[in-house]
Amino acid sequence: MSSTILVTGGAGFIGSHAYISLTQAGYEAIILDNLCNSNIRVLDRLRQLTKQTPKFIQGDIRDKVLLENVFKAYKIKGVIHFAGLKAVGESVEKPLEYYDNNVRGTLELLDVMKLANVKTLIFSSSATVYGNPATAPIHENFPRLATNPYGRSKLIIEDILEDLYCAEPDWNIARLRYFNPVGAHESGLIGEDPQGIPKNLMPFLTQVATGRREYLSIFGQDYPTCDGTGIRDYIHVMDLAEGHVAALNKLFFQKSGLLTVNLGTGRGVSVLQMIQAFEQASGKKIAYKFVDRRLGDVAECWAEATLAEQILGWKYCRGVDEMCMDAWRWQSKNPYGFMEDKC
Ligand code: NAD
Ligand code: WQD
Repeated sequence: MSSTILVTGGAGFIGSHAYISLTQAGYEAIILDNLCNSNIRVLDRLRQLTKQTPKFIQGDIRDKVLLENVFKAYKIKGVIHFAGLKAVGESVEKPLEYYDNNVRGTLELLDVMKLANVKTLIFSSSATVYGNPATAPIHENFPRLATNPYGRSKLIIEDILEDLYCAEPDWNIARLRYFNPVGAHESGLIGEDPQGIPKNLMPFLTQVATGRREYLSIFGQDYPTCDGTGIRDYIHVMDLAEGHVAALNKLFFQKSGLLTVNLGTGRGVSVLQMIQAFEQASGKKIAYKFVDRRLGDVAECWAEATLAEQILGWKYCRGVDEMCMDAWRWQSKNPYGFMEDKC
């Protein structure tokens, strides 16, 4: 019998892709999402892709009664916890909302898991916990530093999980630190669908390519990098999704305790290199202008990615060209994301 996994935030960008990988790997996934940053139409796309209707519960992880009922109703074996708010700028404006959703939400979830004796958890952490790293590549043992409330919420949750594991070593927990997830499922049926003006490079690029935005502003051209623009470790969202399956298998079959692992490619790509790769993949010319650096940005952020390979047996396999092709397929087939009409 397949194991049932609760996927909080499973209607979102990474969660919906992870749902596909989990299903393919033989897990039964149940999505719990309050849809605060996602669209219910993703479920129909998941149904088309997996040939089965996803089990979906619309609700909030801070609703303890709901969570208790979910754990009573299903034989859940483990949880992948994607649910949370993720916009850095917004977190500076609304810190309490971020701590309430991310930190309190996680505490409620952990409480109910403990009550239900479900002690296998994957947590979505982020490269943001490294703050302004002195050098790259960034190893898991680099010092951590929060530079905004979003990052601090991830840092606090990482610490909570460590304390929990110290107190109760029968938990199996993976703290996965994602670098820059981009791309989309190769079908073009699901993908990243930010609300409003995209804050991240790839969705902005794809929206310039469809004509929804006039040009891309490149934040800074004087960084000490190969071409003066910022360098990041972009990782295909399907590779990331498969990383979760690898981590889950490790937690279930090897009872590996507390793991902290970077999920990145170990390769840095500049903004200009990304534009070039995207133009090639899409056949579209991207208009851009250089503007001032964005506050809080670092010159370089890319992963030391060998630990994931060593302990999870997982490595990325999709390159930048595939990231761009898949992102473009998704955006060109769905110029307004999951919305039916322009709004
Ligand atoms: P997303 O916003 O697309 O997905 C998050 C989902 O969680 C959304 O569907 C949202 O509706 C849901 N949600 C939020 N608060 C909830 C709550 N209280 N109860 C129930 N559902 C709730 O974001 P994503 O890009 O898929 O990110 C998933 C996770 O990975 C987040 O925790 C994020 O912080 C983390 N992460 C993302 C990135 C990235 O660049 N996308 C990088 C590192 C880490
Ligand atoms: C990438 C590069 C920008 C937009 C963010 C969060 C981080 C994590 C991932 C959740 C940088 C440049 C961008 C634009 C640009 N999320 N850029 N013009 O900043 O590395 O990481 O998402 O955990 O916490 O901070 O990603 O895609 O915003 O930027 O020039 O319109 O593209 O300066 O060099 P970032 P990004």
